[in-house]
Amino acid sequence: MSLTITINGSPVPLPEDPRVSLLDFLREHLQLAGAKKGCNQGACGACTVLADGERVLSCLALAVQYQGRSITTIEGLASQDGLHPLQQAFIDHDGFQCGYCTPGQICSAVGMAEEWQRGVPSHVTQDLNTRTIRLTREELRERMSGNLCRCGAYNGIVEAIATHCGEVAP
Ligand code: FES
Ligand code: FES
Repeated sequence: MSLTITINGSPVPLPEDPRVSLLDFLREHLQLAGAKKGCNQGACGACTVLADGERVLSCLALAVQYQGRSITTIEGLASQDGLHPLQQAFIDHDGFQCGYCTPGQICSAVGMAEEWQRGVPSHVTQDLNTRTIRLTREELRERMSGNLCRCGAYNGIVEAIATHCGEVAP
């Protein structure tokens, strides 16, 4: 019986070679080219996907590490009803130029919003005892700081995420 990983809701056999990164597995084996290979060393965030809702850098992960886990890529965020609200927000707020970093930005933002709502603190969170962290622009930027954009579309990216999360304090 082959070992499987769930990709965007469907079980898929894992690669026989345990050295294959999750990113290469998605892009080269499954032709899911949404997650991008930027630096391939954990520095740019372009390869970000979600593993059971948590954001991970797929270039630093081995596919076999995620046996039995559920991976969501940018291709799996939209539904039959339409785009994910964050995908729509990026369009509405010009959160991209060339688009190369965008899949990673959006996957990261989905995971980040979950972390924030669960009360997970960041490096700049002042009160570590509160479960209701105010998502200031500083918080938002810090939490998204692992995702780089060579086009400098940061203002649109921040507006898109801020709008999606609602009530972001200045
Ligand atoms: S490609 Fe994974 S962090 Fe840059
Ligand atoms: S939109 Fe071009 S790198 Fe971000």
